[in-house]
Amino acid sequence: MSTSLWPAGVSFNNGVLHFSGISATSLAQEFATPAFFMDEEDFCTRALGWDKALHQAFDSHAGNVYYAAKAFICVEVARWIANCGIGIDVCTGGELAVALAGGIDPKKIEVHGNNKSVSEIERAVSVGVGTIVIDSIFEIERVAAAARKLGKTQRVLLRLTPGIQAHTHESIATAHEDVKFGFSIASGAAWNAVLEVQKYPEIELRGFHSHIGSQILNMDSFEIAADRLIGLLGKYRDEFGNQLPELDLGGGYGIAYLPGDVELEASEVLPALFTQVKKVCEKAALNIPTISIEPGRAIVGPTMFTLYEVGTVKDVTLESGKNRRYISIDGGMSDNIRPSLYGAEYTTSLANRSSSAPLIDTRLVGKHCETGDIVIRDIELPSDIAPGDLLAVPATGAYGRSMASNYNHVPRPPVICVKNGKARVILRRETEADLLNLDI
Ligand code: LLP
Repeated sequence: MSTSLWPAGVSFNNGVLHFSGISATSLAQEFATPAFFMDEEDFCTRALGWDKALHQAFDSHAGNVYYAAKAFICVEVARWIANCGIGIDVCTGGELAVALAGGIDPKKIEVHGNNKSVSEIERAVSVGVGTIVIDSIFEIERVAAAARKLGKTQRVLLRLTPGIQAHTHESIATAHEDVKFGFSIASGAAWNAVLEVQKYPEIELRGFHSHIGSQILNMDSFEIAADRLIGLLGKYRDEFGNQLPELDLGGGYGIAYLPGDVELEASEVLPALFTQVKKVCEKAALNIPTISIEPGRAIVGPTMFTLYEVGTVKDVTLESGKNRRYISIDGGMSDNIRPSLYGAEYTTSLANRSSSAPLIDTRLVGKHCETGDIVIRDIELPSDIAPGDLLAVPATGAYGRSMASNYNHVPRPPVICVKNGKARVILRRETEADLLNLDI
């Protein structure tokens, strides 16, 4: 059971953060702030850990781990994925381009998206992606047309919404009825899609997919989703006499963000999922299908932290008469939109020195021209934190850099990979020239 918030290579010596032996001060001097620092070994260990756990739990029924690129991807990370031999889930042409540039075997690419363009579909079919996950009735014809044009047969899964209210923020729950994704099982849309697919010989229906949401810390929802997908496998077998061979149960496994949080561990959740799948299949007299999963956050989230420099410190007297300290750092909602978007909570540590000063109520804010530009709403931090100090925010690997924006024309921070005592840039910092390049 892991409760660590920091990448495996991070340690604190006398209050100073070290990453693979390099101090936060040296990292800031060499690469400037704000910056994301990423642990390559930790990433690969986690990716391989999910793969191993899937194979151990599901044995001959194990399909692929498809790393969800949307959590964070760049060409170097795609290369690591190719080396690990796992698959990747992409949901746009851009993510597909990065996966291919990193040398990932197209057969290990699964293509998602609720509104894939015709050109995205044609490109996916032409490079030979292993699976396209069909999300709407229109897409069935579009995928078939692309396959026909290219003289190919395309393997597909149908994305289904099993009608589950996952325990997570509304914006990142995806499997209840009132969502834009997939085909609802309860309304009959899923079965209509099954029938529609039969009309196209260029499409090989392999099975069903569901992704119930993200940052889920409770296994029940995954098990219910599996039950409902298996229910439809049974209906298919009864109707057509043969069984579809695959299910993909998506991602969504939650991680630790705050002290005391406990992440869902692959070695615990996947055996539990297998037990449930086996039980439901036995009851329905079905063969156990091949099971794939798509963890994104659970692989990359804990492998990065963001390093910021403090710029200003301001005390504000609240109506209650209490004092609140505002500490402004040199990044904010452009490199971490999650607090503003989902009310996501983070913690931070002073990274360049120790402090024994008393703790005081603090709000950590960014440099953007917006009151809601808050990185941490309420936290107790040492009262002697001053301009020039470094603050590190852990667990920013997933949906941090990947959702970064140029709001207020702030260039997006780099990602620096640290391994064996060496740090190197894998995604460079944007420059003002990059921003101006877009202007005509
Ligand atoms: N598979 C599918 C089809 C997905 O839509 C997603 C995430 C995943 C896998 C990976 O989920 P994960 O294992 O990373 O939870 N921006 C939000 C999260 C949105 C997730 C969207 N889909 C956040 O920052 O929390």
